[in-house]
Amino acid sequence: MTATILDGNALAQKLRADFKTRAEALAAKGTRPGLAVILVGEDPASAVYVRNKVAACEKASFHSEKIVYPADVAQDVVLRKIAELNADAKIHGILVQLPLPKHFDSDLVLEAIAPEKDVDGFHAENVGALMQGQPRFIPCTPYGVTKFFEEAGVKLKGAEAVVIGRSNIVGKPMAMLLLQAGATVTICHSQTKDLAFHTKRADVLVAAVGRPKFVTADMVKPGAVVIDVGINRLPDGKLCGDVDFDGVKEVAGAITPVPGGVGPMTITMLLANTLEAAERSAK
Ligand code: GUN
Repeated sequence: MTATILDGNALAQKLRADFKTRAEALAAKGTRPGLAVILVGEDPASAVYVRNKVAACEKASFHSEKIVYPADVAQDVVLRKIAELNADAKIHGILVQLPLPKHFDSDLVLEAIAPEKDVDGFHAENVGALMQGQPRFIPCTPYGVTKFFEEAGVKLKGAEAVVIGRSNIVGKPMAMLLLQAGATVTICHSQTKDLAFHTKRADVLVAAVGRPKFVTADMVKPGAVVIDVGINRLPDGKLCGDVDFDGVKEVAGAITPVPGGVGPMTITMLLANTLEAAERSAK
């Protein structure tokens, strides 16, 4: 059996066509969605992510601002900038690219963003709202994954779902969304004993570990839906996911590729959250 390939570029394009219509309706009311992205330091992967986020805004005719600081900038400078953006009517979404340098208190910085502009959904108030099943903003990567489930008609009610990874950005919110959709959810992580025992039971398997080709065919239940959140660079410069795609696609029922799977959807959902924030502000 060969799995259905879940094409993130195609799904992203479909969703973005709808955003264009909504953005035009907003423009008619005099509002253009605006996103501010703050990058601190020179981490090359973060620089690429930020560049892609800003480019996606431009393509969607959103207003965007990219604010870049050197790695040794004082935390207060960034906090003052966030306060300024909180009060700026042109800006509906604020994103601080993570990770921040070690001298930063990341929680404090994320809490400084006005919750109604927190398009990443990382502010404690928004994390709490998601936990209570009343999300204001769903973090972009897990939000994008839910769109794959919708598009492919994956039945989550009663499904066994396994998430590998417990980060605040992906693993925890992903598990919460699966739980709210009616799945029985297991969260595995670096301390999990006998990982394959869990993954082999999964009807839906989400890998967010950050280790190249970590999930192999023998760990996957035949017919499972496998979502690969990882983006790893191999020594030859090529990108690969956390899932051994060539092996797993022979066992799984559906699988996302890397690149071209979850990646384009993450940026698409950032646009969705920014648009949503702008629509709320125009009401
Ligand atoms: N670093 C890795 N992923 C993300 C993300 O989704 N948002 C932010 N702000 N930083 C990240």
